[in-house]
Amino acid sequence: MKIGLLGCGTVGGGVLDIVEKRSDMEIKYVLVRRPRPELGALAVSDAAVILNDPEVDTVVEVLGGLSPSFEYVAAALKAGKNVVTANKHLVAHYYKELIALAKENGAAFRCTPAVGGGIPWLVNLERVARVNPVKEFWGIMNGTTNFILDAMHKNGADFSAVLAQAQALGYAEADPSADIDGLDIQRKCIITANVAFGAMLSEEDVPVAGIRNVKACDIAAAEAHGRVCRILGCGKKTEKGVAAYVEPVFAAAGSLEAAVDKNFNMISFDTEYTGRESFYGQGAGRYPTAYNAVEDCVDILEGVKSFYTDKMEPVSPDNSAEAHPYYVRTSAKSAGLDAAKAEVWGEGVLTKPLSVKEAHDMAALLLKSDPGFFMAGIKD
Ligand code: HSE
Repeated sequence: MKIGLLGCGTVGGGVLDIVEKRSDMEIKYVLVRRPRPELGALAVSDAAVILNDPEVDTVVEVLGGLSPSFEYVAAALKAGKNVVTANKHLVAHYYKELIALAKENGAAFRCTPAVGGGIPWLVNLERVARVNPVKEFWGIMNGTTNFILDAMHKNGADFSAVLAQAQALGYAEADPSADIDGLDIQRKCIITANVAFGAMLSEEDVPVAGIRNVKACDIAAAEAHGRVCRILGCGKKTEKGVAAYVEPVFAAAGSLEAAVDKNFNMISFDTEYTGRESFYGQGAGRYPTAYNAVEDCVDILEGVKSFYTDKMEPVSPDNSAEAHPYYVRTSAKSAGLDAAKAEVWGEGVLTKPLSVKEAHDMAALLLKSDPGFFMAGIKD
């Protein structure tokens, strides 16, 4: 296998190191944006050199972002080259186009490192969904935010300082808003819902609440009630179709989710024949993510051609039947929130059970008058 590596940042550098030790594949080019003398003749700054070279059979894309990643990946697929990508934004946004191009051109399109970093989540989900209907998935799907929340619980760390640390460790996206606002998790949910349920969700339809506004007083409120703050991506097969959403939760202190620390992820599915299975591991970082990209290359070498599923039914998620109480902290006045209030929790309130749809609709309204609004679902 001759690989054109698009990008040589945290993950790309890891791919380079791992491939160097293998005899079944080699990196022929590395696309770089700035001069990188240490890469010697491998470094090219013009993507066309890679995309037009018939010797390159596989492109590994770790640039991130939508453009020019989309243009490069689309061109690679059109040229019949296999593509492996760690770019969940690209996959969630251009799903249909890229999978269609891969099929038309007989190329493989794989993105195992895009969800769960080093966890072999998508490949296992692919396997299980063949035989064992997936009823639900949920989990900690972002290393940066877990690292932040864990540090806030353990050391009372300051949000901005610990975010800077997560960036320095190579966990965060180039624009960390994607992490702290939950968009990175939303994209991982979209990919997961497709492989699990055959559903095609779009970014506009999956509601997201992030942790940008979480404060020490919220962490204290969770702890005072025997809980730990985490942020989860969730998806479920329902009578009406599919529920899907992203939100912080106050998980029970004894739950598996509460025990997940640092940059670790834990994603679970519940299936008809096996019940719960959980996948735990490093969800972000150089070698975990790079390792999963190289695994995809090995799968392609061994003959994998298809995407993880062929099913792509466009579905708009319906979150009206999913309900649980919420912790809400806001300075905004809201009759709806007053009516739902059950208890006072520190500087916030605990609501009666609200549907996820009601809670996220309320959040969208309250954020307009209170940019510091924070909420978390109460889940066991
Ligand atoms: N920024 C992502 C995270 C990288 O923190 O989980 C891995 O997808």
